[in-house]
Amino acid sequence: MQVKKLNEIDVRGKKVFIRADLNVPQDDAGNITEDTRIRASIPSIQYCLDNGAAVMITSHLGRPTEGTVGPDDTLAPVAVRMGQLLHRPVRLIADWVEGGFEVKPGEVVLLENCRCNVGEKKNNEELAKKMAALCDVYVNDAFGTAHRAEATTHGIARFAPVACAGMLMGAEIDALSKALHAPKRPLVAIVGGSKVSSKLTILKSLADKVDQLIVGGGIANTFLLASGKRIGESLAEPELVKEAQAIMDMMKARGAEVPLPVDVVVADEVSALARANRISVDEVGPHDRILDVGPKTAAKLSEIIANAGTIVWNGPVGVFELPQFSGGTKMMASAIAHSEAFSIAGGGDTLAAIAKFHIAEDVGYISTGGGAFLEFLEGKTLPAIAALEERFSA
Ligand code: 3PG
Repeated sequence: MQVKKLNEIDVRGKKVFIRADLNVPQDDAGNITEDTRIRASIPSIQYCLDNGAAVMITSHLGRPTEGTVGPDDTLAPVAVRMGQLLHRPVRLIADWVEGGFEVKPGEVVLLENCRCNVGEKKNNEELAKKMAALCDVYVNDAFGTAHRAEATTHGIARFAPVACAGMLMGAEIDALSKALHAPKRPLVAIVGGSKVSSKLTILKSLADKVDQLIVGGGIANTFLLASGKRIGESLAEPELVKEAQAIMDMMKARGAEVPLPVDVVVADEVSALARANRISVDEVGPHDRILDVGPKTAAKLSEIIANAGTIVWNGPVGVFELPQFSGGTKMMASAIAHSEAFSIAGGGDTLAAIAKFHIAEDVGYISTGGGAFLEFLEGKTLPAIAALEERFSA
């Protein structure tokens, strides 16, 4: 992937427009509950400020109705947090598309929720041209939104005088490309989650590349069904058994494998009070629900992880939020943390597991992308990156 990078550009005295992904979780009172994405946007902003640029940043927050900025839509709390991180005031500018506001070199302003602008989601060309006219340099640092072709992620890149990738976007592209396009082998992918259907494209795409495909959660249950095991009342998609079988056959044909659980942790309900039983996978009863992998399986998966050259992780292998079903994911997290392999992780549940088991410092790269991370794993071209690539080769 060839894109122009921000640190290759002389931004002194220039007006720089940064599209970041500052779509952070908030509580009912609007307080930011997790600020990773704001922190991740700082290096590009700081680079521009240090090099004498006048900096405008925008992002979407949520999925607002275009044409109005409701109380839940405003980036005001983000402006406050960003100001704290940058140790300087960050002014919030409303109604910015037509210009008419001033930003001086060395100053930073936050442009109100770009998804409130009419035409943003449909990538309206007129809107994109107006926004491009505000700047000398357009920087896309919003990896988390790179799978959306919207006016601030795609259209503007076509019309701005210069279009480049920010520091975060560059780091995400480098880390994901390293893991998927030039991995040190064995390449091990862990794909957990409840449904095969939501991850079918990823599973198929990875089945073609990886040496071991560890499946977890409801996905593993569907694979167990496909291999002829009884899974009682566990979450699964029997209609996708053929797809699961095809993935296992495809892997086997290339000498790769889908290591399935040999023991499991079952209960008769998913609840904090549920009594967990560790049993062999051949002992699952008609009313059992598989809610985690058992210790033998966790040990086997840990060994695979320990021997990996590269690890791609998306999704837990059990209901790790409940202590009695967290053992498998915890052991896997620990194996990743101790592994010499280059590891990359992404997705909401995965990040929650990383935080819970305190291994953030020991993962090679943690992606800020949710949907974008998954689509990259699927092998899809992300429109925002494609727009930067087009400008590189133009
Ligand atoms: C995300 O949170 O995954 C990104 O910010 C994209 O948000 P979206 O799904 O609303 O486009």
